[in-house]
Amino acid sequence: MQKVKIALLGFGNVGQGVWQILNTNKKQIILNCGREIEISKILVRDIEKPRNVDVPKDILTTDIEDILADDQIAVVVELMGGLNPSMQYMLKAMRCKKHVVTANKLVLATQGEELFKTAEEEGVLFYYEASVGGGIPIIREINESLTANKIEQLVGIINGTTNYILTKMTMEGMDFNEALRGAQEKGFAEADPTSDIEGYDAAYKLAIMASLSFGTKIDMNCIYREGISNIKAVDIEYADSFGYAIKLLAIGKDINNRLELRVHPTMIPKTHPLANVNDSFNAIFIKGNAVGDLMLYGRGAGSLPTGSAVVGDIISILRSNTDLSELTNMKNSMAPKKIQASEENVSGYYIRLNVKDRHGILGEIASVLGRHNTSILTVTQKVKSEDNVSLVFITHSTLEGNIMKSLKAINDLDNVNSIENIIRIENFS
Ligand code: NAP
Ligand code: HSE
Repeated sequence: MQKVKIALLGFGNVGQGVWQILNTNKKQIILNCGREIEISKILVRDIEKPRNVDVPKDILTTDIEDILADDQIAVVVELMGGLNPSMQYMLKAMRCKKHVVTANKLVLATQGEELFKTAEEEGVLFYYEASVGGGIPIIREINESLTANKIEQLVGIINGTTNYILTKMTMEGMDFNEALRGAQEKGFAEADPTSDIEGYDAAYKLAIMASLSFGTKIDMNCIYREGISNIKAVDIEYADSFGYAIKLLAIGKDINNRLELRVHPTMIPKTHPLANVNDSFNAIFIKGNAVGDLMLYGRGAGSLPTGSAVVGDIISILRSNTDLSELTNMKNSMAPKKIQASEENVSGYYIRLNVKDRHGILGEIASVLGRHNTSILTVTQKVKSEDNVSLVFITHSTLEGNIMKSLKAINDLDNVNSIENIIRIENFS
């Protein structure tokens, strides 16, 4: 049996999942690619660190040169995370004529172009299925199965950590920090969970999917991004009472060659399938002009689900005859498209205010909204004391620009204590 040697850069949650899968499913993998895959070196920071799986110590190294200089290693699998040295190591591996697999969305979303260009120049393959949606085969779906379509829309829950936190807060009344600790213990969160909580991770993934789906390079700075750190238990309770669930959605639309790209907490009807995507599960809704609506669902984070996508990429490389078709996708995707300013986005709004219980305040706020072409669907008032009233407005769909101007004016009203929260509502109409 021919053996193919590979190296892992990083042996954390995902790296150890890859190790486990290659060992547990060894026979099946041989059947699938006709060769035995051997992990011959693993780059780590600390060789002595305890791991969840047993590996021979002599294959661990802290020196990347041990891997780059080894001509026997055909595939380098980057699972360290972060921008550098991951990016530099991948470029070096390609220049040493090694194929590269990565799960690193940060590098892809911000420096992908250079990686694709180098892979093409060096005639090596570069696969990245695990970078979006963990175990969900979304990249292959967009790059292969859906190529007959013009993709018009992507709407997804694409961060497992925040979905786990929102699920625990909603279903178990768990405190935000406790839920975050749970996501970290389960290996869902990034090394710095700010990336998850503040929506950066989802924005990187949206950039990767949108670039492939809409055929253009995406500047990360043009993606509107808002995380979940401001979502309070009271917002979840209000959402529930109005028939909504709160989810961190990534939304990408191609409207006549203008792109709408945004990541933010969103209220969605409880009857919508995305509202029932819970825990670390991810789901991505795609609308193609031929296929119509399509939804992919699966585990978006975690050692084995993500390892599954990584090992799938390694097997694809071994099965291919260095077919460069996937690499040309990026080349084809460079035509510029304009990204719509966030003021032009349209959705419904949940606006939670704290006000004083004074004569006419409701009318003043309603009139500000009306002046800015925003029509009110419902108003809920809870009086805690004369100076402490919780007021919640649900609006019909309106331009984000109208809401921003309204909020500025509402904030200036004498009897408004504070604007407590604003959450967009997606009705999928
Ligand atoms: P992790 O648990 O933090 O593991 C990172 C590994 O990389 C560790 O083994 C660490 O070594 C090693 N490492 C980091 N910097 C290094 C350096 N400069 N030199 C040598 N080794 C270095 O991370 P992870 O959760 O496995 O995630 C890895 C990548 O997969 C990230 O890009 C992440 O975004 C992506 N991803 C993760 C998931 C998930 O569910 N976790 C899902 C999809 C994609 P030590 O062990 O010695 O410290
Ligand atoms: N931290 C990421 C998440 C890992 O929670 O979704 C998967 O990309």
